Parts: sequence; C-alpha cells; structure tokens
Amino acid sequence: MSDADFKAISDIAYSEAGLVFPPEKAPLVQSRITRRLRQLKITTFSDYTAFVNSEQGLTERKVMISSLTTNVSNFFRESHHFDILREDILPNLLSRARAGDRIRLWSAGCSTGQEPYSIAMTLLDMAPDASTLDVKILATDIDPNVIVTAKRGYYDERAICDIDEALQKKYTETVGNGRKRGFQIKECVRNLISFRELNLLSEWPISGIFDVIFCRNVVIYFDEMTQLSLWPRFEAVTAPGGWLFVGHSERLSDRLDTEFIAAGPTAYQRPSPANTII
Ligand SMILES: C[S@@+](CC[C@H](N)C(=O)[O-])C[C@H]1O[C@@H](n2cnc3c(N)ncnc32)[C@H](O)[C@@H]1O
Repeated sequence: MSDADFKAISDIAYSEAGLVFPPEKAPLVQSRITRRLRQLKITTFSDYTAFVNSEQGLTERKVMISSLTTNVSNFFRESHHFDILREDILPNLLSRARAGDRIRLWSAGCSTGQEPYSIAMTLLDMAPDASTLDVKILATDIDPNVIVTAKRGYYDERAICDIDEALQKKYTETVGNGRKRGFQIKECVRNLISFRELNLLSEWPISGIFDVIFCRNVVIYFDEMTQLSLWPRFEAVTAPGGWLFVGHSERLSDRLDTEFIAAGPTAYQRPSPANTII
C-alpha cells in the first residue's frame, strides 16, 4: 500500500468516523483492507481507493469503516464500573422507576454486545421485575456487523467466562454440545435492550435524556478535537445527577467546560439540584 493509498483511506476514516490512524498503523490498515480487496476481487490498493472515492463507492465507504474499527469487548470489562452501577446508581434509579419514572441507559459504542448485556444482567439481577418498569438500555455502534452479532446474543465459552457463575446460570442458556457448544443470552435480558446503528460523529436521533451513559474504549481512537466536541454532546443528553463512564485510558479533558465532575475511576457525574451547594 503506497503512502498516498494509506492517506486516502485514513482521511476517509477520520472524516466519516473520527478514527485516527497515524503512519505507524499503516500495516494494520493494510491487513484489514487487504481482506476487502480479496472479497471485491480488486487487485491494487489504488483501484480500491479510487473506488471508495467514487460515487458508486459510497456503500463501500461504510464497509471500509466497519473493517477498520476495533471491536474488542468483554463482559463486565472494567468491573469497577459495574460495582458503581450496582451499589451507587441502580438502587435510586430503580426506586424512581417503581414510582413511575422513565429510566434510560446508553451503551455508546457497544461493539458485539457484551457491555449492554452486562448492564442488563446487573439491572435484572437487582430488579427481576424490570420488564414491568419503564427501564430501557439503548446500545449503539457505527459498525452494522457488530450490531448483528450483538442482537443475536450468542457467545462462545471463552466470552461467557467473564460473567460471574451465578449470573451465567440465570441469564444464559447452553446451546449445542462438544465443540459446537455456545451460550445464548436469555430473552428477558435481550428484551431490555434496543440495538441501533449510530455514528457518534453524526446527528443523534435521540429523544429524551439518559441516566447513565457508557462510552468506553471508543474515543481512544479519536483525536483530541473530536473528543472535545463529543463530551458536551454527551452532557446535553445526560440527566442532572446522571453518570458517564469512559474507558480506563480515557479522560475528560481539563480544557473542557462541562458540568461533569469526577466521581470515581473514569466515572463522571452531572451535579443534581440536590447536591448543588449554591
Ligand atoms: C473497542 S470497542 C469498545 C466496546 C465496549 N464499549 C467496551 O468497552 O468493551 C470500540 C467500538 O467503538 C465503535 N466506534 C468507533 N468509532 C465510532 C463512531 N464514530 N461512532 C460510533 N461507534 C464507533 C467501534 O465500531 C467499536 O465497536
């Protein structure tokens, strides 16, 4: 792949999805795009970049972005966030839900579903009656392929191992046996989640606000300017007193003028009227 091809591909990834690929990532980009060339039976990178830059290549641009995203995820990843959710957040949200309030949680950049399913299992474990309450989880990602996998809710043994055994027993079903053995997330968990394709850089067709937002290990692939533009947008859709969780190597910049205050390791909270001093 020539420098010009790498630049053409990384320019599109940046302008459409905010993904930054510095020159040292050229081998990674090359290996991910090579698969696409093979599938399309295109022989050179320059033919491919000409195609994605043409009018007929509009759909391929989306496929290209999908092939460039990093989708690694685990159940209960960064488990301290789930401790905060269970101990400090859900008791109050659930009593509000039982009093008739609408409660919304958002997994932004949900990848193959482990994050929203971990949220849903935590919720259901504390409130087996959750389906009778107005409590819902929105799970979104730019990559339509991961949304298909996430919706299916079917995982192998290695993935399921990250779920505590009691929750595994309650919320997954074993399907098949031997080498074909897999685990299906039960319907009661899946029913709490709406999966949607959404590019965080585009408009958010979202109505209402969220009590908790997980946007973890997503902005790490963005530059500072894109990150700085995102946090105020998250703030605008976070309820007073609501929470924002980010990934272990991500931070809200000090240069940022948002109301979010640090409330735990990589956890932020919008002040609520009740804890405002003045
Ligand atoms: C490493 S995964 C993180 C999954 C999960 N949040 C976690 O922490 O385990 C990053 C996800 O962000 C998604 N992503 C990247 N750029 C995005 C964008 N512009 N809009 C929405 N999602 C994006 C990728 O498709 C990928 O699935």
